[in-house]
Amino acid sequence: MTQIPLSRPVVDDEIKQAAIAAIDSRQYILGPQSREFEAELARHVGSRHCILSNSATAGLWLALRALGVKPGDEILVPSHTAFPTIEAICFAEATPVFVDADAYYTLDPADAAAKATSRTVGIVPVHLYGQPADLDAVRALAARLGVWMLEDCAQSHGAAWQGKKVGAFGRAGVFSFYPSKNLTVMGDGGAVVTDDDEIAARCRRLRDHGRLNKDVHSEIGFNLRFNDIQAAIGRVLLRRLDAMNEHRRELAERYDKAFAGLPLGLPEERPGGHHVYHLYVVRTPRRDELAAFLKTRGVQTGVHYPVPTHRQPAVERLNPPALPATERLVKEILTLPISAGHTATEIDTVAVAVREFFGA
Ligand SMILES: Cc1ncc(COP(=O)(O)O)c(C=O)c1O
Repeated sequence: MTQIPLSRPVVDDEIKQAAIAAIDSRQYILGPQSREFEAELARHVGSRHCILSNSATAGLWLALRALGVKPGDEILVPSHTAFPTIEAICFAEATPVFVDADAYYTLDPADAAAKATSRTVGIVPVHLYGQPADLDAVRALAARLGVWMLEDCAQSHGAAWQGKKVGAFGRAGVFSFYPSKNLTVMGDGGAVVTDDDEIAARCRRLRDHGRLNKDVHSEIGFNLRFNDIQAAIGRVLLRRLDAMNEHRRELAERYDKAFAGLPLGLPEERPGGHHVYHLYVVRTPRRDELAAFLKTRGVQTGVHYPVPTHRQPAVERLNPPALPATERLVKEILTLPISAGHTATEIDTVAVAVREFFGA
């Protein structure tokens, strides 16, 4: 039986050659490939600066520190996200204030407004699954509260809101290059984008031991630098990003058509948003049964995420209140295979199995 993985990175000779050329260059840390990748990423998003880091978790921490967060500061953030979003806030010594999810699985602006206090300093919308959060409403709320917005774009390379790329709306945006992401570097990696010269300069310093120059350290940072072998790979894939995202959208549409009429909640594109289907997430009260059935057909599935971040033991001390929409959806969501490396035939195979499960 053929196995269909949740995600399959694209690997070919052009990518391998780029990595070999970087090895041969003998320049490995923040060298010419990294600098070019930063310039090209900034251009792709439409931001003035891009600062590479060794993960998005690190990038979020860099951006939060550069924004000047301090103990006691509260940050509004959706519970329904990958734990690193929350972890970076905690690691920057601020307090995450967990917000419920809207109908598109992203931060609910009304719940965020209800949870704002005089200690709120910022909002971190997460463009989850490749779908932009409700940026008009979040921006309006940030402006009304007089706080910054930091976009978590880890899952949304190339996604757009009203025609403008995500990452270019907040004071900063953060991307991940983890292997399953829409744009990868075949390993860990991340980037901060911003139009703000001071935030950019501070992120650059903090990722390199708080270094002002070779010998002088103006503050305590860390080693969160990036490397040229992975930058060379990222540059090849960035040139293909729009086409790879288009392929994901075509595969998603294939699923949509095959599932029409089934008792299955389908991912919907928010009006005004351009969804890049990092994940294709369906919804059914029979989630566990469906996952078990698909496993017997060689189809890998996932749940992103089964334990909401506000219910993680690591943040128990914050005693977060219940979030009804989030707690309901995590019991029903199921991620089906999708990536730039999947073929239409594979998607059709998954779709047939799902239809069979529902007796269609
Ligand atoms: C929404 C979100 N934020 C942050 C991260 C952290 O990214 P990284 O693994 O590059 O640190 C991830 C990774 O899964 C993510 O999905």
